[in-house]
Amino acid sequence: MPSIDVPLTRAGFGQSARKDAWWREPLLVFAGYMIFLVYATWACMQGSNYLYTGGGADYLSPFYSPLIFTTAPSWWPSSLIAFSMGLIILPFPGLFRFTCYYYRGAYYKAFWADPPSCTVGEPRKSYWGERTFPLILQNVHRYFLYVAIALVVILLHDGWKSLWFLGADGERHFGIGVGSLVLIANPILLGLYTFGCHSFRHLIGGRLDEISNSPVRKSCYDCASGLNKQHMRWAWISMFFVGFADLYVRLVSMGIWTDWRIL
Ligand code: FES
Repeated sequence: MPSIDVPLTRAGFGQSARKDAWWREPLLVFAGYMIFLVYATWACMQGSNYLYTGGGADYLSPFYSPLIFTTAPSWWPSSLIAFSMGLIILPFPGLFRFTCYYYRGAYYKAFWADPPSCTVGEPRKSYWGERTFPLILQNVHRYFLYVAIALVVILLHDGWKSLWFLGADGERHFGIGVGSLVLIANPILLGLYTFGCHSFRHLIGGRLDEISNSPVRKSCYDCASGLNKQHMRWAWISMFFVGFADLYVRLVSMGIWTDWRIL
């Protein structure tokens, strides 16, 4: 049988033998991230309409929680940028997601085209591995995990507080508003994303040589592994829902939406 010599050549940027619409996923990822990034940055810069107290409610936007400062602390550069608690909080969950293993795989393709998709030509010849500077900095992810877990706990507490409405007697009484459901669902979804984190799996049991000797940790590890299989799904759902939770509090505090009381 005659041999056929096929010259190996590097595919040019965007060239591929693939026949499918390989560009669709990175395009959707790009659009989805941009929508969230623009909205979250804008919302965190507002410094207003993050708290709804109408009808005795106590709804705090997750972008502004924990609400440590309501006015600019002395170290805030007020001459450069107007104070907003959201701007102090935003970098922490933002960097947790930015360094997430799933997000990295997604935005390397969608934003850096490195490569645009599997077996598609990329715009550069060099290889930026994650073992050298600057991408080695992505390893800080494991430390942002601790912050992310703390934020889930804080937001759960906010959800609990949203169930207690100030009455005419000056006491708080149990109730449920649509906003309560939003503020409770939000940390649950964030938890489903956070506890499926690769670093959390490692922390909870992956670093052990014989995890079967620790049955409790084995159970936690199996739960985290189950969530990890759906990590991409929880990443997207929790990202848009946290944005929606801010939007909900914002619009009810502005009087554009009505917060219906269920109980
Ligand atoms: Fe995605 Fe840690 S790997 S949150």
